[in-house]
Amino acid sequence: MTHDLFEIMRTTRSMRRLKPDPIPDALLAQVLEAGTFAANGGNMQSWRFLVIRDQAIKDAVSVWYRKAWHEVVGPRYRSGGPAPGTTPERFARMLSAAEYLADHFHEAPVWVVPCQSGPRGPGASVFPAVQNILLAARALGLGSTLTTLYLIHAKEAEAAMGLPEDVHSYAILPLGYPMGKFGPVRRAPLSEVVYDGAWGKAWTDA
Ligand SMILES: Cc1cc2nc3c(=O)[nH]c(=O)nc-3n(C[C@H](O)[C@H](O)[C@H](O)COP(=O)(O)O)c2cc1C
Repeated sequence: MTHDLFEIMRTTRSMRRLKPDPIPDALLAQVLEAGTFAANGGNMQSWRFLVIRDQAIKDAVSVWYRKAWHEVVGPRYRSGGPAPGTTPERFARMLSAAEYLADHFHEAPVWVVPCQSGPRGPGASVFPAVQNILLAARALGLGSTLTTLYLIHAKEAEAAMGLPEDVHSYAILPLGYPMGKFGPVRRAPLSEVVYDGAWGKAWTDA
């Protein structure tokens, strides 16, 4: 198990094929606590993390995830080009993993749902915690994926989660032991995404 931060970041890929095996409570607590270490506005810690293990709730919410994937998001990605820094073959594999997740969402043993009360905002005080959770899960050998596509049907999905009217979810993080291996993320090089001192002036590696 690696604890080198850079190695963990480099290998925290979306793990969409998860085993249904349960996650020990102590491990889950460690992951959740890592979430609470994150930066957040004014340290108000207005986040709330709903842990969902109940099969009936996962089944009911997954209906909306699946619908959003099969009717909207899947067709949209399939009609476009591959992501930057990846090949058409790799992109096709990613889409097939995303489809697998859509069809097996309810099988992840634990979902963590970061929430906040009040009107839905950009989630700036929620997503740093989400990233910490993903990194901590990876460090402990657990896989996950940041998912938001169910928000196409937010009202229905949040009702199925039993959230009060004034509380909104920002993502669902299905957590579980991965079927496959962690591997490096695929990203475009710095020269394509970093400008050095002036807009459009590409970064060059030293
Ligand atoms: C805001 C956001 C929303 C995302 N929503 C979904 C989602 O609903 N379903 C999914 O399978 N992946 C989702 N992803 C994961 C991305 O597709 C993934 O991070 C990207 O393809 C890069 O792949 P990697 O994480 O394996 O490196 C989301 C990522 C972000 C940042």
